[in-house]
Amino acid sequence: MKLNLLALLIFCIGQFSSYAKANEPDSAYLFAYTTNEYKRHNGLHFAWSTNGKSWQALGPEYKYMRCAYGREKSIIQPMLLRDKQGLWHCLWSLNNTEGTFAHATSTDLVNWKRESYSKVISNDNCLKIEVTNNGDKYNLTWVGSLSGKEKIYRVTTHEFKEYSEAKEVHPGMRSDGLRSTVEIRGVKQTGTKHKVEWSVIDGLIKAQQMSVYKSLLQGEGSAEDATRFALLKPVEARIDVTTTGSKTISDMLIGVFFEDINYSADGGMYAELIQNRDFEYTLSDKEGKDKNWNSRTAWKLKREGASWTIDSLAPIHPNNKHYSKLELENPRAVLANEGFDGIALKEGDKYYFSLFSRVLKGKGGRILVRLVDKDGKVCGEAALNSTSADWKKQEIVLTSTQTVGEAQLEIHPQFVGTIAMDMISLFPQKTFKGRRNGLRPDLAQAIADIKPRFMRFPGGCLAHGGGLDNMYRWKNTIGPLEARKPQPNIADYHQSAGLGYLEYFQFCEDIGAEPLPVVAAGVPCQNSPRGQQGGIPMNQMDDYVQEVLDLIEWANGSVNTKWGKIRAELGHPKPFNLKYLGLGNEDQISDVFEERFTMIYKAVKAKYPEITVIGTSGPNSEGTDYQEGWQVANKLGIPMVDEHNYQAVGWFLHNQHYYDRYDRSKSKVYLGEYAARAAQGPNLESALAEALHLTNLERNGDVVSMASYAPLLAKEGHTTWNPDLIYFNNTEIKPTVGYYVQKLYGQNSGDQYLPASVSLSNNHDAVKKRVAISVVRDSKSKDLIIKLVNLLPVVVKTTTDFQNITLFGTNIMKTVLQGQPKDKKIMPVVTEVSLAEVQSTELPPYSFTVLRVKTK
Ligand code: AHR
Repeated sequence: MKLNLLALLIFCIGQFSSYAKANEPDSAYLFAYTTNEYKRHNGLHFAWSTNGKSWQALGPEYKYMRCAYGREKSIIQPMLLRDKQGLWHCLWSLNNTEGTFAHATSTDLVNWKRESYSKVISNDNCLKIEVTNNGDKYNLTWVGSLSGKEKIYRVTTHEFKEYSEAKEVHPGMRSDGLRSTVEIRGVKQTGTKHKVEWSVIDGLIKAQQMSVYKSLLQGEGSAEDATRFALLKPVEARIDVTTTGSKTISDMLIGVFFEDINYSADGGMYAELIQNRDFEYTLSDKEGKDKNWNSRTAWKLKREGASWTIDSLAPIHPNNKHYSKLELENPRAVLANEGFDGIALKEGDKYYFSLFSRVLKGKGGRILVRLVDKDGKVCGEAALNSTSADWKKQEIVLTSTQTVGEAQLEIHPQFVGTIAMDMISLFPQKTFKGRRNGLRPDLAQAIADIKPRFMRFPGGCLAHGGGLDNMYRWKNTIGPLEARKPQPNIADYHQSAGLGYLEYFQFCEDIGAEPLPVVAAGVPCQNSPRGQQGGIPMNQMDDYVQEVLDLIEWANGSVNTKWGKIRAELGHPKPFNLKYLGLGNEDQISDVFEERFTMIYKAVKAKYPEITVIGTSGPNSEGTDYQEGWQVANKLGIPMVDEHNYQAVGWFLHNQHYYDRYDRSKSKVYLGEYAARAAQGPNLESALAEALHLTNLERNGDVVSMASYAPLLAKEGHTTWNPDLIYFNNTEIKPTVGYYVQKLYGQNSGDQYLPASVSLSNNHDAVKKRVAISVVRDSKSKDLIIKLVNLLPVVVKTTTDFQNITLFGTNIMKTVLQGQPKDKKIMPVVTEVSLAEVQSTELPPYSFTVLRVKTK
């Protein structure tokens, strides 16, 4: 095997470290600064020097700390200070407009605690902040420039939590010389200079090198397999499976996470065929970026003889403000809807057409409703009469005479006068389980086929939303469709709320999955395109906490409770038996977050101790939010923590023991979002990396209780997030190879883990990391399930000793996914095999094999 780049790097780091140890200085100069690269998203930088004159940058543009504030996420003019206890404080400006600055601390300049943002002045900004330590007090001064002339302000603080009132002071109050300008890599940089022990610099150097090393590991994939494994012969694997040391693992491990991104709900699984049926699309859905995105989107007035306006006077419901108004001078005009990329119809299928209408002028009359293909050929029609002066809902059924991919709906009022129309809907009768206002059967069935034990919804970022006014509020999504509150979708489109909490809970019930709703922890998404905006004001938090408690009563309360009664009135008297509640999603773990999270958590725990509340630990598997999120969990004793982990294939190869180190006495883990990224999009290689990870999750099924791949669905032409599990268009679904991995795990999960030791004929690390096994037993069926991953380009021949386990020799199913790493269209092949083939089996190159055997 070749000495590859990684080995070389490890060798170099080792050489450097030993050299440094022998010759290191006692102290050196450290320079803290930031640059304007990458629109100031580039975080806090360091350089070092032994003489304070010539500087070495620590990694080109290496970020030792990033800022999470707002949309800009900028660190501007950072000021570093070390206090008397040796703790580092970094203060920085956030933008040119607000009187707010940021503060964070670190003991080693590598690991940073949570950021806090303090508004110290309301009528000016806060630039070039400086801090000095005076006894137990800190004096902060800064420049405010909003008045057009530079003013100097000052506050004092003890703990960087409370600040004295800002006072304008004489410019002489600014300490001189706190910042200096030095040349780094030929560029002048302004920052703060510090004399530090060499160990501080050493720690920074190692952190930067470690990050380079880690990204090399993460970049490892099958692309270099031809050279990496050029001399590799088929590998023999001797496997011993034993019941000794077996352990109970979660029987909830495999679930799904449904979020309305990539047109997963509207235009996707929610079976409504009319786009913008409520005329509520608004410019703000896309922040005004698309002028054609408004209440007329997807609609068109065809033929002359009418004027078409969008009105909001006396709407059906205040949540649904806009409607269409047609003033008809003659009975020719037609209002047409193009659906979501056209309307897909099937010959012989029936469709409910419904609308609310109100005659504003004249007597009204007959409205002809037609389905037409691209050439205008009619493929279904029916008519209704609209004569009411008040809003009235009517429904008719249309039968399609043809199978058409891209039909349109035409509404043809055949009278003269003025008519208002809203909530114009075309819904297939064929929905999943035949539910009204239901789901597209093929997509819903594909999800059901995974046999998910739970379903997390409605997000993701969608749950906490792009700002305080965009949080997903469950009460706005139940009840009559015309009264639900649509809103901008954080993924830059529109959510109609047609697929709302009732439908989500109903779907969970229909597929036997535990519902796992996620509510915002009182703060919006930190990565919102609209920027993080603090939290719900504390004086509104009691109401918000009540909203969360009401959700549990709505789901579980008897019909005699206020919200249980509402559920019954919506057609579901039986409680939904909610057991899990997600609180927060990838939030920035700040004081603002913790205060609100704690309030909600304690209220839920007090009133509903039986509910498993799932906390949050940021968007990554490491870093400040991860550390701080876990700290909050430990402090409050939260039962479970939601972790997210989107990584390149190499991460999964090199982090197989990630959960082995988790403390079993602390919170359980819900791996709420994860996916392996391959350079060319989801393929066999990424699917095998996920299969590999799942063997590690099963082994750690005593601490990892639940896991769900993300995102689940993506509509072609509207995919803003890759990779996804199932791609689709209006007529087809295109499961990825990763989908089959999820399905194989979901359909072959167990509740008991049996240790299996593997010894390979080739003990090279790169080989060992690519062969994995997980053996579980399902106590209901008593089946033993063996999952084997081979990420090598050669066959692995296994010989397995099942020791004290008695296996039945009949009905043994073997399922194999195999192909080339870049293959995207692989499907599992199932065969029945003999016991001998279980004991001695061949794992094809790049394959995932599942064996299911009956036991006594
Ligand atoms: O799964 C897609 C997005 O990824 C989710 O909305 C969010 O939680 C994460 O950043």
